[in-house]
Amino acid sequence: MPWTRRHLITIEELSREEIEQILATAKAFRSILDRRVKRVPALRGKTVVNFFLEPSTRTRIAFEMAAKFLSAEVVSFSAAASSTTKGETLRDTAQNIQALNADMIVLRHSAAGSPLYLSRLLHIPVINAGDGAHEHPTQALLDVFTMRDKLGSLRGRKVVILGDILFSRVARSNIHALTKLGAHVTVVGPSTLVPYWFEHLGVQVSHDLRSALADASVVMLLRIQHERQESSHFPSLGEYTSMFGLNKTRASWIKPDAIIMHPGPINRGVEIDSDLADSERSVILQQVTNGIAVRMAALYLCAGGQPEAVVNVN
Ligand code: CP
Repeated sequence: MPWTRRHLITIEELSREEIEQILATAKAFRSILDRRVKRVPALRGKTVVNFFLEPSTRTRIAFEMAAKFLSAEVVSFSAAASSTTKGETLRDTAQNIQALNADMIVLRHSAAGSPLYLSRLLHIPVINAGDGAHEHPTQALLDVFTMRDKLGSLRGRKVVILGDILFSRVARSNIHALTKLGAHVTVVGPSTLVPYWFEHLGVQVSHDLRSALADASVVMLLRIQHERQESSHFPSLGEYTSMFGLNKTRASWIKPDAIIMHPGPINRGVEIDSDLADSERSVILQQVTNGIAVRMAALYLCAGGQPEAVVNVN
């Protein structure tokens, strides 16, 4: 099946086959990276603009490195360095970036729907690097890529996502990706942050950590998204940690071969104890590394590349 999408806006809109195509392309790129090949010419002559209107470490650097490995030119800029501080709208900013002959835009924005809006406005590809509490598609893709790397097929596997589900774009994108790949997802945390309506997305909702962790192959921690909460959803961070923080005792409830994940940034001592974040069960830094190959796949495919051209030569 040829790849036909020019934009990557949500996981929700992707079919299982399209997710498989991105993962296969990312696997091929990772094998190239593992061979210490410095650059491949796939995007030579193209300019990728990283436009981040919210802070980022991992996503922004991984997109920049991915574009450079593909031989693209990269321009990265943030809210503070842009004329949005002078009142310029997202629409005008994006149209100016296009007028400056950018070939692709990678957008992070606090408003859900802004990448979709730009994809309808511009004639160049738009990749969503996280839009509000809506979706973070490349994060979910690197997460399932890492899970499959460690565990093989996800079909029938139990994946627990623990923490602030309500305000998490990572949770939403992972729920869509994991359910399409056949995993059984349980979301767990305080009832104020894990409402029952998430069941409509095909997951189990739990407020009981011990029973949720039983039989899990993957435990994914999420931080509390203070920047998106307008009111308090639990009495204090200390009380959240005492009820739902992953510590040594609670980790003993998980199967010994289960992996611990976190999209970052980590709040050590809040959602996860430091020694667990650094333990052998943690694949947190492997997630970050896999983010480069996954973003290479996203850039390559949205620029018009075909999976077979990379997969079949590896
Ligand atoms: N996981 C993630 O999106 O991290 P950054 O905010 O640092 O990009």
